Amino acid sequence: MKKVLVTGGLGFIGSHTVVELQNEGFEVYIIDNLSNSKIEVLDKITSITGVKPSFFNIDLRDKAAVKDFFANNKVDGTIHFAAYKAVGESVQIPLEYYENNIGSLVYILQEMKANNLNNFIFSSSCTVYGQADELPITENAPVKPAESPYGNTKQIGEEIIKDATKISELKAIALRYFNPIGSHESAKIGELPIGVPQNLIPYVVQTAAGLRDELSVFGSDYNTPDGTAVRDYIHVVDIAKAHIVALKRLIEDNNKSQFEVFNLGTGQGNSVLEVIKSFEKVTGKKVNFKLVARREGDVTAAYADTNYANNELGWKTELSLDEALLSAWKWQETL
Ligand code: UFG
Repeated sequence: MKKVLVTGGLGFIGSHTVVELQNEGFEVYIIDNLSNSKIEVLDKITSITGVKPSFFNIDLRDKAAVKDFFANNKVDGTIHFAAYKAVGESVQIPLEYYENNIGSLVYILQEMKANNLNNFIFSSSCTVYGQADELPITENAPVKPAESPYGNTKQIGEEIIKDATKISELKAIALRYFNPIGSHESAKIGELPIGVPQNLIPYVVQTAAGLRDELSVFGSDYNTPDGTAVRDYIHVVDIAKAHIVALKRLIEDNNKSQFEVFNLGTGQGNSVLEVIKSFEKVTGKKVNFKLVARREGDVTAAYADTNYANNELGWKTELSLDEALLSAWKWQETL
């Protein structure tokens, strides 16, 4: 049985990926410090798959603990999700973002190198493209100056990994996510925003549930068909499955170079108003909203060119926006 370390394995994308890994017969080791996740997720994963992953409550900024983990666990691959991810917060506390997102990454890569462990998958983001000059966005689109310390940690992270592949046997894939949404069909795991949600779907869902009065739609004067910003919303289960495909690519030595990058998106762009309309249609719930000013740092439109991931990884999305929105609602109903 192949062993995989999933850092941040109790988080939103991490937990869904752990489920898919277990479904595919991998033995999963989770490292999570519970900074933005709950220990109950471990039992939820277990109830979905029937198998309890090994859990390590380790803070990846603790170099000695990271060293200890890798010395004692010869994993066949590492999927690294653990990171801070709030764009606005990263502007307020940039150094914490750099320490956590960059420091941890460096320690993991050092210890993997020390133990000759060579397969690494990194959570990156479409944020590296900024406002791309051409749509849809291919992997060859230039990386634009980061709009936030968070975005910068993804860019720097990719650079660090690329440099590490040059001096070792490390093989790495950076997966650039567009906008991950939705929940597992069991509604046992999902996104757990702490406090006021910053992202669109959790806010929509909480407004429909009556937890928030009104959704603010940020910007209605964009150069898009209905004036609201356009994104590529992708079901988290499709994202999770891409990680298994990418990991197998490395384990089976099918990678074309030591550092590869793939977009994970659906290829379809939807505006904020389209998302609201679709949500209301599939759930029968009303979402109160008002049009307000643009949010600083937001781009007009971003959606993926999926050709490279589809053809080279042999992966494509299977779930629709409607299915993703309905699953997000079903998850909310359990909370
Ligand atoms: N939006 C609203 N109201 C809200 C929340 C969001 O109108 O209450 C809009 C945003 O303005 C944007 C769209 O909904 O047009 C999507 O916003 P999200 O916050 O859900 O997602 P982003 O596209 O801003 O986030 C993505 C990635 C991040 C990345 C960021 C960079 O998920 O990882 O792009 O801009 F950092």
